[in-house]
Amino acid sequence: MKKKWLIGNWKMHGNLASNKALVGGILAAVPSLHEQVSIAVCPPFPYLYQLAELTRDTYLGFGAQNVSDHLQGAYTGETSPLMVKELGGSYAIIGHSERRQYQGENDGLMGRKALAAIDAGLIPVICVGETAEERDSGRTHEVLARQLDAAFGYIRTAHDKIILAYEPRWAIGTGIAATPEIVQSEHEFLRQRIAIRDKAFAAKLPIVYGGSVKSSNAASIFSMPDVDGGLIGSAALNAQEFVTIYGELL
Ligand code: G3H
Repeated sequence: MKKKWLIGNWKMHGNLASNKALVGGILAAVPSLHEQVSIAVCPPFPYLYQLAELTRDTYLGFGAQNVSDHLQGAYTGETSPLMVKELGGSYAIIGHSERRQYQGENDGLMGRKALAAIDAGLIPVICVGETAEERDSGRTHEVLARQLDAAFGYIRTAHDKIILAYEPRWAIGTGIAATPEIVQSEHEFLRQRIAIRDKAFAAKLPIVYGGSVKSSNAASIFSMPDVDGGLIGSAALNAQEFVTIYGELL
């Protein structure tokens, strides 16, 4: 069976007490590692150290929701991917649409951040996705190709520790996930686009879906052949929901 991935993006939610309860709930429900599925959560930056403590010696990984495109230096307010790595983190979400939308991040910055994450030894979870308007005007593939080419313009495909996340903006936080058919079709497009650069890399590249995944729709989305897991937002804030979604990948 091909390896699968489940990553929870907590966004700007949580506190010391609720984080502890959430991680405790996940670990209690899934006490042992399933080799074929990697599972991790990405808390806000101030809680990375807490997550390092809570997940120590468990199968649950953790990562950051963003990192700097620099490894160190005079960059006030930024966080180096090396710092996330030092705490034991494994992942960095890169180019999430909420960062593009609210923090003005662009395609080029996304590529540089992905490269910095790789240089620090993290697995970048590179997010791409179109808006409702872009989809409605038939520009989905143009947008996905642009975002993908920008990110992979910086990355050597020989680097096999990369995850791509397809996150259509119109499905994020709306409660309305893309249909399994749309997800499959866009994942297929992304894989083909990557294959132009490197066929073997494209075949192995994990492509996960994000956008209103919940326990009730996870099975149908995960059943699609080009879906290698999920990047989960609001449902990752509920241990039972998150664990049930995890179960759909086993
Ligand atoms: O990173 C996660 C995605 O933005 C999905 O969020 O599951 O709340 O729609 P959501």
